[in-house]
Amino acid sequence: MKLSERLYYVGVNDDHKSLFEGLWPLPEGVSYNSYLVVDDKVALIDTVEHGFEDEFFAGIAESIGDRDIDYLVVNHMEPDHSSLIALMLERYPRLKVIANAKTLPMLKGYYSVPSERVLVVGEGDVVCLGSSTLRFYMIPMVHWPETMVTWLEEEGTLFSGDAFGTFGSVAEDVVDKDGTFDIYRDEMIRYYSNIVGKYGNPVQSALKKLSCLDIKRLCSTHGPVWENDIVSVVDLYDKLSRNEVERGVCIAYGSMYGNTAAAADALAMELDRRGIPYAIHDLAGNNAGELGVSGALRDVFKYDTVVVGSPTYNNGIFPPVETFMKALSARMIKGRRFYAFGSYTWSGVSVRQLNGLAESMDFEILGPGLSFPQAYAAEKFDMKAIADLFA
Ligand code: FEO
Repeated sequence: MKLSERLYYVGVNDDHKSLFEGLWPLPEGVSYNSYLVVDDKVALIDTVEHGFEDEFFAGIAESIGDRDIDYLVVNHMEPDHSSLIALMLERYPRLKVIANAKTLPMLKGYYSVPSERVLVVGEGDVVCLGSSTLRFYMIPMVHWPETMVTWLEEEGTLFSGDAFGTFGSVAEDVVDKDGTFDIYRDEMIRYYSNIVGKYGNPVQSALKKLSCLDIKRLCSTHGPVWENDIVSVVDLYDKLSRNEVERGVCIAYGSMYGNTAAAADALAMELDRRGIPYAIHDLAGNNAGELGVSGALRDVFKYDTVVVGSPTYNNGIFPPVETFMKALSARMIKGRRFYAFGSYTWSGVSVRQLNGLAESMDFEILGPGLSFPQAYAAEKFDMKAIADLFA
């Protein structure tokens, strides 16, 4: 796919993998984006995940025929972008890897790249390809410590690594058009919350550093190439990394025999009746197509209130719910309100323990929670009073 006279998209769609990083569901697939800058010299920006070699090299051949590639810019070492580095070095014996100092040990450790094949760059350094200039900026922890971005000055194009990325395969013509942002918005929030969500402060630092650039084209490692809706994409990442949320409720629960689920459904119905925005997620995976922890994290980044349901299990929290709470804690999310509920049979501890975890995250606890014995029965509990807490 030709993006301009000197720029080609040579990424691939992965519609087969079910879990990204072995964790996060991919109902709409994902793309691994790679780009060629073609001038007197040719630079490839990142590679794609292994398993896509044929498609990847066919895309390169379609773009530049049998021309040599002079440089491989490694913006980010996570193997979804780096796993063809060794093959690139083999295929292009004169190729040099462009990377920063923090990348060097990773290049050696993952792919045994000899240091003489690496051109080390630092903050603001420039590599000229002829009439095209590549400038490098370090954006550590977006998403790994070595991460950098590459700025193609003459085209106002930012190769941004995982920053501004999204789940979801890309269309054949790759570039966004009217409506593309709306199509990807939810998957972009899910990608951010699942993959980058722990690194809100580094994302903010990166946004400040890059704010001086007049970006005309945003080329992330995942998702469409953004030319039309750059402002919406950057704004969304800015809001997410600042923990800016809207009023609403994310209900996340696990249930063994449907009693905690019944309380979750009753609460959802009450919120629905009042027109309070909400999302509900079964963390135990009893509902087909459920995104589980991945979807719940997305909606914690959307809404200001987190409501978590867990039965008491082995004198503790039901394991799928515990996993969610751990994921929540790891993201160091700020400024959320919290409410817990759940059933027990002979001794109820899950609600108390959930509140304890929420307290350790500095969430505002909205009351002691609803811990109920055995079956949930609507007539026994005042869901209206509970929903009042979330108004
Ligand atoms: Fe898409 Fe952090 O790799």
